[in-house]
Amino acid sequence: MSTRIAVFGTGYLGATHAACMAELGHEVLGVDVDAAKLEKLAAGEVPFYEPGLGEVLRRNIDRGRLKFTSSYEEAAEFADVFFLGVGTPQKKGEFAADMVYVDAVIETLAPLLTKPAVIFGKSTVPVGTAERLGKRARELAPVGDGVEVAWNPEFLREGFAVQDTLHPDRLVLGVDRGRHGRAESAAREVYADLLDEGIPFLVTDLATSELVKASANAFLATKISFINAISEVCEAAGADVTVLADAIGYDVRIGRRFLNAGIGFGGGCLPKDIRAFMARAGELGADQALTFLREVDNINMRRRTRMVELAREACGSLLGARVAVLGAAFKPDSDDVRDSPALNVAGQIQLQGAAVNVYDPKAMDNSRALFPTLTYSANALEACEGADVVLVLTEWPEFLKLQPSDLDAVVRKKVIVDGRNCLSPDEWRGAGWNYRGLGRP
Ligand code: UDX
Repeated sequence: MSTRIAVFGTGYLGATHAACMAELGHEVLGVDVDAAKLEKLAAGEVPFYEPGLGEVLRRNIDRGRLKFTSSYEEAAEFADVFFLGVGTPQKKGEFAADMVYVDAVIETLAPLLTKPAVIFGKSTVPVGTAERLGKRARELAPVGDGVEVAWNPEFLREGFAVQDTLHPDRLVLGVDRGRHGRAESAAREVYADLLDEGIPFLVTDLATSELVKASANAFLATKISFINAISEVCEAAGADVTVLADAIGYDVRIGRRFLNAGIGFGGGCLPKDIRAFMARAGELGADQALTFLREVDNINMRRRTRMVELAREACGSLLGARVAVLGAAFKPDSDDVRDSPALNVAGQIQLQGAAVNVYDPKAMDNSRALFPTLTYSANALEACEGADVVLVLTEWPEFLKLQPSDLDAVVRKKVIVDGRNCLSPDEWRGAGWNYRGLGRP
C-alpha cells in the first residue's frame, strides 16, 4: 500500500530517506528551506557524494513518485505521514546538540495540520525531545490530539546510505505509550516491504528509542577509541595494533569491525553525538555515567596530535617543509569533511609552518570551502611533488593502489606516514621508503 509521505530536511539523511521511501513505492515530497538544494534534487542531482543515491533519486522522479518543495503548506496538505530528518549540530562553544532546526520544523508544520498526522522523528536528538515536540505539536495544531510524534532513529552510514536505508540491520520505533495512536500501524505500512524481509522491528517508548541511537553511536566511538588507546600502548611497546586487532577480533564477542586504529573518528555524527549525549546525561543528573565518553573523545583527539608529531619527526621541523596530504574526507566514499580528522591534521601542520598540499578524490570543493588556506592538487601525484613526507589520512581505494614506484620520482624524501594503517609496510619498506603507521613498530 502506498503512503503519502513528506520528509523534512534534504541533507544526507533526509534526501536518502525521501528517495528510498519512494523506491519502496510511496508518494514522497522532500521539503527544505534551501531553494538551491531543492532545485538540484528536483533535477535529479544529488548535492553531495553518496554512491547509488543518484540512480534511486532519478528513477523515482521519473516514476512521478518523488517531488521536492519549499512549501510547508503543500506538504501539510499532501501527506499523512511526516518524517523529520533535519540536522542536530553541536551548539557553538557547548557540547549540547542544537535543536533549532528540529524545533523550526514543528513550529512551522504543526499550525498547518488540520487532519490527523503522524510525525516520525529520524534525527539524533537528546532524550526527551520527542515527548517535548509531541506536546508542542498538539498545542499548535488545529487538529490538536490528532497529531502524534513518534521516534524512528536512523542508523545509516555515509557511503552506504541507500543500502542501510533499504536493508537496515533493524528498525526501531519509539511511540508515545500513553496515547495509543496510529504511529505503529503507520510505520508498519511504510516499512511493509522491509518487515516482510524479516528485518527486526523493535517498538518501544519514546525515551528508549532516542537512547538507542545515542548509545549505538557512543558504543561505536568507544570501540574506535579503545583500539586507538591500545595503539598508543603498542607504539610504546613496539607492538603491532593491526595484528592485535585481528587477533582479538576473531572472538565473536568482540568482532573485528570498528577496530581499525588510525587518526580516529570524525564526521557529522560520532564526535558531536557523544558530546551531546554527555551534555544530556548531565542535565538529567546522570553525568557520572558517561564521564568515560570524555576520555573516548580525548583519545580520539590525541590521535590527530600524534599524527602531526609523526609528520614533524619525519621532516625534522615543519617550518618550511612540504607535506603531501592524501585524503580530506572523514572517511572514504564520502565527500563529507565535517570534523574530518584528515583536514584537522592538515590544518595543524600548516599552522606549524609547512606548505600543505591536499588531494581527495571527492571532497575537494567541501575542503576548499572549509580550509581555504591549504593548497589543493588535482591528483595524488601532484600533491606529492617535492614532498618531504606523504601522509595518507583517508583510506580511499585509489590510495591503496598507489605503488612506491609511482611516487619515487616526484617526492623529495621517501617518507610515508599511514594514518589509517591501510598500506603494506613491507611493500613500502621493500621499495626503500621510510614507512610509519599508527600503533605499528
Ligand atoms: C556513523 C554510524 O556508523 C551510523 O550508524 C550513524 O547513523 C551515523 O554515524 P558515519 O558517520 O557515516 O556513521 O561513519 P562511520 O562509518 O561510522 O565512521 C565514522 C568515523 O570513524 C570515520 O571517520 C571513520 O574513518 C572512523 N573509523 C571507523 C575508524 O577510525 N576506525 C574504524 O574501525 C571505523
